[in-house]
Amino acid sequence: MRIVEVGPRDGLQNESVPISTAVKLEFIAALAHAGIQEIEATSFVSPKWIPQLADAAELWPQLPAGPKYSALVPNVRGMLRAVEVGVTRFAIFTAASDAFTQKNINMTVEESLVAFRELLAMRPPNTWVRGYVSTAFQCPYAGKVQPERTIEVAQALIELGCDEISFGDTIGVAGPSEVKRLAKLVAKELPSTEVFWHFHDTNGTALANVFAALDETPNAGFDASAGGLGGCPYAPGAAGNLATEDLVYALEREGIATGIDLAQLSLASASILSALGRAPSSKAQLAALSAAR
Ligand code: HMG
Ligand code: MG
Repeated sequence: MRIVEVGPRDGLQNESVPISTAVKLEFIAALAHAGIQEIEATSFVSPKWIPQLADAAELWPQLPAGPKYSALVPNVRGMLRAVEVGVTRFAIFTAASDAFTQKNINMTVEESLVAFRELLAMRPPNTWVRGYVSTAFQCPYAGKVQPERTIEVAQALIELGCDEISFGDTIGVAGPSEVKRLAKLVAKELPSTEVFWHFHDTNGTALANVFAALDETPNAGFDASAGGLGGCPYAPGAAGNLATEDLVYALEREGIATGIDLAQLSLASASILSALGRAPSSKAQLAALSAAR
């Protein structure tokens, strides 16, 4: 089971309390110590848009050895900055809705695909690219999204050369039957694609959605964020991602190995939550912290 930890990127991008590069590195080292193998560490986006991640180029060379790291790149400028510091795993991001991509990256979906073609042409050899399809179920500005539209955008990203696709419930509103509907279509239309599900937990449905997705796409991986941190600043009302602790607990309890130590992970999250002035809210994290006391 591949789990991509997005806490250092999705988790921190929307936080207003400034977190120093040193504290981010401690957080990432603690995640690695807990056994997390894949971490989306930062974004090479405009610092005017996402000030919290303005230190991406400083952070990257200091990342602790062990996990595989990736970073978001939105444009040629971001790709050049990322390549310069040695990034080899990139994530490009668009959506199933024009209204959202306009707010998020100041482009329509079509414009983003044109821009990504140029980006991917600059991709160094032996590198890996993830393509995000945000608002896979619903857009905060334009409402419900048809699953066929989500698939169409994923297909366009695959044609551009993406190695895997992550479907985002950006505002955390989907329920299990919608997830099953899209996942069925994914299994039918994208049978040889490496698929990830990226659930936000605004309404508490993320874990139910994980198991709905697994029913139809049993080989899929999941994105999650330590302590349930996160949200996109251009998706009003969106809460954090599915907490990695909740995901790990539920998968392990169902006999699916993750290689992640829940107690260590809960401590890693507790420390960054404290730096942000937040209390833990993931149920599995709270239970693990209480068991450790
Ligand atoms: P723009 O304003 O249209 O572009 O932004 P611009 O080219 O006019 O640039 C504006 C300024 O930023 C300029 O500086 C550029 O040089 C600079 P100025 O000339 O004014 O001094 N700039 C950059 N600086 C550093 N690195 C760069 C870069 N690009 C421009 N790469 C742009 C367009 C795409 C840059 C902007 O919209 C942007 O950075 N957006 C990123 C927003 C973002 O990170 N959103 C959150 C991630 S997506 C998400 O959370 C969803 C996801 O989790 C999945 C899900 O939940 O669904 C992935
Ligand atoms: Mg997200």
